[in-house]
Amino acid sequence: MSETRILSADEEEMEDAVREAANLLDAGEVVAVPTETVYGLAADAFNADAVAKVFAAKERPEFDPLIVHIASFKELEDVAAVPEDIAPVVKSLAGAFWPGPLTLVLPKTARVPDLVTSGLPTVAVRQSGNLIFRAIGKQLGRPIAAPSANRFGRISPTSASAVEKELGGRIPLIVDGGACRDGLESTIIAIEPREDKKPLIRILRAGPVTKEDLQKYGKVVIEKRITDRPDVPGQLESHYAPVTPLLMFAKPQDFVPEPGKKYGLLSYRGDPKAGYIDAHDWEVVEELSPGSGKLMEAAVRLFYVMRSLDEAGLDAIVAEPVSETGLGVAINDRLRRASAKPAD
Ligand code: TXA
Ligand code: MG
Repeated sequence: MSETRILSADEEEMEDAVREAANLLDAGEVVAVPTETVYGLAADAFNADAVAKVFAAKERPEFDPLIVHIASFKELEDVAAVPEDIAPVVKSLAGAFWPGPLTLVLPKTARVPDLVTSGLPTVAVRQSGNLIFRAIGKQLGRPIAAPSANRFGRISPTSASAVEKELGGRIPLIVDGGACRDGLESTIIAIEPREDKKPLIRILRAGPVTKEDLQKYGKVVIEKRITDRPDVPGQLESHYAPVTPLLMFAKPQDFVPEPGKKYGLLSYRGDPKAGYIDAHDWEVVEELSPGSGKLMEAAVRLFYVMRSLDEAGLDAIVAEPVSETGLGVAINDRLRRASAKPAD
């Protein structure tokens, strides 16, 4: 592959971009497409050869399963065999959060190739709310397998230009739908029935749909560190990582700069009370929420800001945690994983 085309999907250009993307997917190609969370690298979920191209372009190990995106609730039965005892809660959750950034892990049907699920008996499913994505799925008429459109372990892309940096030259087409609305990958949950009680909802990956949002539907637990969960192979400790080392500390005083090194600060709101701004003569300070958007703004900007600090020629980035409530849980999760050392 040499050239990667970027097609705008703005207004009157949308129809052509959608048709082009759906045709390529139908022909077994991969295409980078916008979703409301992050850009995805899409393939026809029922075409194992096409799915293999996703793994190749991303350099993603085959033990890390993909998310399958359906175009309507009706399509769910093509990819998942929903057990009777959780069917009501699946229906309520879909009614409340689909289309949107919530992914359900459910028993898979035989139609989903094993490569998509890395041989697991379950499949991760969601319905994206992005209009361009939905139009492509509708035109294709089959579910779309799509992981985030970055090279494995790297920062997820929230714009077409970020996708180009990650996968340019490796894929034929990027559909440019502008900046992603949420900026963080979907919340992933598994559901366990409980006798005479509301089901147990386990959050496997924190995301835009928060623990608080889900509480109405069951008893919600956030799964702790992930490496002890062999059934979640993709939830590797080190992930979303810039090339520049990203450091986190229990408290700002724990940061001891090495002489001669250049450090950048990834600050939540630029607030001196957090203790980081004045702790060092930073080469550069980037704020996740410079406006009044707080956690929502921080989520949208997180990967963009991480990427720009990564390109600033620093020796290391120091990240200040955000408040551990609501969306903050997902933001801190990404920061912690970006700061974890890759397993070798
Ligand atoms: O917002 C999103 O979810 C984006 C957009 C493109 O939809 N997609 C995304 O995909 O973040 P990806 O591949 O980067 O992350 C998918 C995660 C992986 O960590 C994987 O392990 C987990 O979903 N996953 C997939 N299938 C699973 C399964 N059957 N059981 C548990 N976890 C699963
Ligand atoms: Mg990813």
